[in-house]
Amino acid sequence: MIRVNVPATSANMGPGFDCLGVALGLYNRIEVDRRKEGLLIENLGKDAEVLPVDETHMVYQSMKRVYDEVGEPLKGLHIKVFNEIPVSRGLGSSAACIVGGMMAANELLNQPLDREKILELSVEVEGHPDNVTPALLGGVVVSTKGDGKTAYLQFPISPKLEWTIAVPNVSLSTKEARLALPKVVPFENAVKNVGNASLLVASLLTEDFSVLNSALRDCLHQPYRSKLLPELDYIFTEAQKKQVNQLYLSGAGPTLAYLNWQEKDEGREAFLRLLKKTTEIWGRKWDILTLKGDNKGAEIM
Ligand code: HSE
Repeated sequence: MIRVNVPATSANMGPGFDCLGVALGLYNRIEVDRRKEGLLIENLGKDAEVLPVDETHMVYQSMKRVYDEVGEPLKGLHIKVFNEIPVSRGLGSSAACIVGGMMAANELLNQPLDREKILELSVEVEGHPDNVTPALLGGVVVSTKGDGKTAYLQFPISPKLEWTIAVPNVSLSTKEARLALPKVVPFENAVKNVGNASLLVASLLTEDFSVLNSALRDCLHQPYRSKLLPELDYIFTEAQKKQVNQLYLSGAGPTLAYLNWQEKDEGREAFLRLLKKTTEIWGRKWDILTLKGDNKGAEIM
């Protein structure tokens, strides 16, 4: 039996649309085993009831992609997935399935593919690199797909950083969230994002977090996506008025992430109050998780 642990990820981190992501200390465990024939899939844990138990399951599809790559037939298979990562919420649940499935298939086949090849295939299946690269490698990953091969650099997440993750009781598919994006953006907004994304990477590398309140601001995707839910729009508008900007939409949303490095953070308190307000106004419920970064990435146990 092969067992793989894969971390959740938080992509974009505000201004780093499709190119910046971190691995977080929340995991899916995937166990796979050969069986005589047929496919048996068991989903356990968070949101297990919404996941398929047939060939459309992302773990199976990703395993199949590896078997096809090496020209081996995929016959009987038992897949067991223990989920901690909520599904379709912006915390990289599909990236965890893709990376975990590919690593498990590679182990079953006695490792015909190296890490680089698994990374390349994962990006191909996911379509963008900012979730699958930190899921595979851990830490912070800056990645860009460009026209050909994915170029990326990984570095560790400071132990000082802490994420307050607010997961709403509503899902949003990445596909739907990408449809909300405009075809063109004002030049000045693009310039702001380049500046903030660069500042953010410099801040994470130098561990000078005093700039995070500016560096996490985005104007490429969050203003459009926050319109998809009135609660998000309200939170971003109110947070901006109060200069609470260490807040971003995790991946394509609808999960919100607040990044802090000091134990007492007034912005974080204000963020929690805004969440409560959405419960009062719209009845929206949030699961609050306090997470550290993961610097190990996907591991065969
Ligand atoms: N960068 C992707 C997006 C992440 O924002 O659509 C999806 O998880």
